[in-house]
Amino acid sequence: EKGTYPHYMLKEIDEQPGAMRKIIEAYSNEEGTLDIDPFIKQAFQHADRLYIIAAGTSYHAGLIGKEYFEKLAGLPAEVHISSEFGYNMPLLSKKPLFLFITQSGETADSRQVLVKIKALGFPSITMTNVPGSTLSREADHTLLLHAGPEIAVASTKAYTAQLAVLAITAFSLGGGSQKLELKKELAITANAIQTLTDAKKDIEKIALELLTDKRNAFFIGRNLDYYVSLEGALKLKEISYIQAEGFAGGELKHGTIALIEEGTPVIALATQPGVSPNLRGNVKEVTARGAHACIISMEGDSEQGDELILPHVHDLLTPLVTVIPLQLLSYYASLQRGCDVDKPRNLAKSVTVE
Ligand code: M6R
Repeated sequence: EKGTYPHYMLKEIDEQPGAMRKIIEAYSNEEGTLDIDPFIKQAFQHADRLYIIAAGTSYHAGLIGKEYFEKLAGLPAEVHISSEFGYNMPLLSKKPLFLFITQSGETADSRQVLVKIKALGFPSITMTNVPGSTLSREADHTLLLHAGPEIAVASTKAYTAQLAVLAITAFSLGGGSQKLELKKELAITANAIQTLTDAKKDIEKIALELLTDKRNAFFIGRNLDYYVSLEGALKLKEISYIQAEGFAGGELKHGTIALIEEGTPVIALATQPGVSPNLRGNVKEVTARGAHACIISMEGDSEQGDELILPHVHDLLTPLVTVIPLQLLSYYASLQRGCDVDKPRNLAKSVTVE
């Protein structure tokens, strides 16, 4: 039940720090170290390449998951949109492992891929929020998200839970030998999310200034911020009906910059080490053409001025934090427009047709 909350989406946004803590607990072994089931670990260890299959928000989590598997576990990974993969399979490696990421575990586009790869005899894992769901039952193994039921059509807490479980999985494959103290860093991240959900009023104000009466908006970022910008754009489109696109910061000038006019909102994520100066350069390119930019940066790497500064977290975990203001911006934009926040038009919570 949504209790005192006006919408499930807002409740689910607020539940993210708690979900994060629950995930840490659920994936801690007897020694208190983050770990996954040994059988699932074996499945990963037998594979020479990971194929991540998903749709929508889960696909966006998969893009970040690929980085985790490659960087923390040295496992080459590729990410595919399920509705494309099933009908146009790429050349597969000798020992592929398939990871289906699906909040509901019922998405038909993803299921048809599972059916096909099972018929080919390949191993599979479903990462889902719903134990006993179709994809969970049909795959060889399940990794649970422990995010609690997600009712709003717009996925919020399932996305951050997916990122956390992806990080834990990749970390445990790497034997935890990396310099990263993931358990501690995830706890810090949970607190950072809390700080942001407590700062709703500030984000509501930004939403009013930036998005009122706007027909379109752009999200830009580099590296992990780029993937989060795709998710920010999807969230905004889905519930506020503002046309939005996410871009790699350097790519806008290769065509889309033609759409920038006086007052066009550009939400710029600048949290990635090494490339935040380049991203700020991209922001200058668009503001010189009239764009109204909102820069979201991280403590320690922010420039004074009008930036929304996020609490500092480990580099790899920034997406769990940068997405929070984007979820809230979408929520308030939807509210201002009088849209049905929890049940946007033309959409269902789980898409059970191909
Ligand atoms: O249940 P799934 O994760 O398989 O769903 C995939 C997409 O349909 C879903 O993420 C959709 O994009 C959301 N409504 C986004 O907020």
